[in-house]
Amino acid sequence: MTQSNSGAFTLTNKTTGDSWDLPVIDGSLGPSVIDVRKLYGQTGHFTFDPGFTSTGSCESALTFIDGDKGVLLHRGYSIEDLAEHSDFLDVAYLLIYGELPNKAEKANFDRDVTYHTMVHEQMMNFFRGFRRDAHPMAIMCGVVGAMSAFYHDSTDIHDEHQRMVATFRLIAKMPTIAAMAYKYSIGQPFNYPKNNLSYAENFLDMTFRVPAEEYKMSPTIARAMDRIFILHADHEQNASTSTVRLASSSGANPFACIAAGVACLWGPAHGGANEAVLNMLMEIGHKDNIPEYLEKAKDKNDPFRLMGFGHRVYKNYDPRAKVMQKSCYEVLEELDLKDPLLDLAMELERIALEDPYFVEKKLFPNVDFYSGIVLKALGFPTSMFTVLFAVARTVGWVAQWKEQIEDPTLKIGRPRQLYTGPEQRDYVPLGKRS
Ligand code: CMC
Repeated sequence: MTQSNSGAFTLTNKTTGDSWDLPVIDGSLGPSVIDVRKLYGQTGHFTFDPGFTSTGSCESALTFIDGDKGVLLHRGYSIEDLAEHSDFLDVAYLLIYGELPNKAEKANFDRDVTYHTMVHEQMMNFFRGFRRDAHPMAIMCGVVGAMSAFYHDSTDIHDEHQRMVATFRLIAKMPTIAAMAYKYSIGQPFNYPKNNLSYAENFLDMTFRVPAEEYKMSPTIARAMDRIFILHADHEQNASTSTVRLASSSGANPFACIAAGVACLWGPAHGGANEAVLNMLMEIGHKDNIPEYLEKAKDKNDPFRLMGFGHRVYKNYDPRAKVMQKSCYEVLEELDLKDPLLDLAMELERIALEDPYFVEKKLFPNVDFYSGIVLKALGFPTSMFTVLFAVARTVGWVAQWKEQIEDPTLKIGRPRQLYTGPEQRDYVPLGKRS
């Protein structure tokens, strides 16, 4: 973060003629920011930006997005390169430590994550308190939050060692907890992790193995799972990451903060979109119905939106969607599946990208447009889609959490508001109220 050479902005009150210089700060890439930290003290005014459309909420060195060009970088490396050449734990190391690991560092990191994959045996009982038909994301919110009750020896955020242990525990145990949520919902016994498997293989094994037989691992499927995790690992200051940062700014423990992120991710405008895309495709049902649904999406009086389309930051094709589309073909070919939903999705994409409404508003497919089809082909029910997103995003959440906690200038996040309620008035006793 450096003071910009491109000067300062001057804010002028046109009525009084008072003016204030607002410094500009440059990052390494992307738009500079106008530093308004002293604005209230100097002018008595707040800035107003609900939805944070023009607000940089923090300084971060993890992830960069150029939404106009469709670029996504983690610590400077493109998502396309990482998805092609790295595995998920490679990307996790990169996000957490800032550099790709060498061979020895990677081996140590993989071993440390693997060491923490089992969950406390008592957690099994905790799971059994949920109704069988509970949504797995509801279970995730509860169980991830409950981790602070099971692992209180890694909740001291001021202790560097405890922060690291919590980081490993969260990354390592999320797949175990996610697989347990799935097993519980279908009435099958929980599986213990197998530490000779990779992160993605282990997750697939815990999810799909049954005691009666071995799970036959396909390298193509395991690679697709790993790639899905990479594509969802981090995404700058999105809603759930900002939730984690806000929760953590109060000094809350890491498990509580990540549980807050899980809850935020659940919403259909965020992580719930991949589940919503598949439900939407099934509702559309046939190519002939696409025009009718496009009209609904364009109608301001109709709440229907084209799920998997549009993004707050990308005003171009989401680079993750391209990789996901490629993975989609590979998986369907490996499994020798012909999913009519893929044909429907491709036709919907083609028609929408030619439609002036979507062109003018720069609404392109996002990562969730194809991920649902891949996950369905891998055998996951739609209710598990957001859970998988949460498993992957845990890496981004903990990396961002760690970055924030280690920032000596950290302050509690406390936005202000534009109050539009009644002015102060006299209290009316119950008997005198009309
Ligand atoms: N279908 C129809 N119209 C849309 C859509 C859509 N999917 N997305 C945006 N618009 C319209 C919107 O109505 C608005 O029109 P107008 O300017 O006339 O009022 C304009 O495009 C801008 O939309 P916005 O809602 O102001 O944009 P936003 O940045 O607040 O919302 C979004 C971004 C992702 C929430 C939104 O595009 C959306 O709801 N998409 C569908 C849900 C989805 O796929 N979410 C996954 C996002 S990617 C995964 C993740 O990062 O979590």
